[in-house]
Amino acid sequence: MQTPELIFDLPTRRATQRLAQQLAPLLEASDLLILSGPLGSGKTFFARALCRALGLAPSERVPSPTFILVHEHETTPPLSHADLYRLSGPAQVQQLGLDAQRDDGRILLVEWGEPYLELLGGDALVLTLSLDPRKMAVSGTGRRSAAIVRGLGAKT
Ligand SMILES: Nc1ncnc2c1ncn2[C@@H]1O[C@H](COP(=O)(O)OP(=O)(O)O)[C@@H](O)[C@H]1O
Ligand SMILES: [Mg+2]
Repeated sequence: MQTPELIFDLPTRRATQRLAQQLAPLLEASDLLILSGPLGSGKTFFARALCRALGLAPSERVPSPTFILVHEHETTPPLSHADLYRLSGPAQVQQLGLDAQRDDGRILLVEWGEPYLELLGGDALVLTLSLDPRKMAVSGTGRRSAAIVRGLGAKT
């Protein structure tokens, strides 16, 4: 199931932060968000903005999970941020146990997660960034993520 897509122009970092602030209140425990798009398109920047919008204290850093593959952040609800770019296949992804983090009530935000949608538990809000011009397409792959898309569409 693929819901209709929303498209946002993100000409400035401020526009990206504003979109994160609009999305944050629509999110619930255990939601899955996939960030895709080329290197430098703003996946990690968006993840940082979303953590701030979910109430992460300014003193807490949000490093890129490029080397340490998963970071846990004490946002509300709590959020785990992963980057699967360096992984070579489903067996390695399975080992990370990311679906269990969702079972624990954590929002799961995954850069380069699209090939592993089902392993991550499915029903994903897919955020696809593009460069030149900077844009974000938002769609859902299931019932819960479709509701988030509708909520965001109603606000924007
Ligand atoms: N509108 C925008 N939204 C997000 N990032 C932007 C924007 N304009 C410029 N940037 C810059 O682009 C870079 C995006 O890098 P990053 O988030 O690490 O990308 P990725 O994780 O997709 O490889 C950052 O240096 C950020 O400051
Ligand atoms: Mg990144």
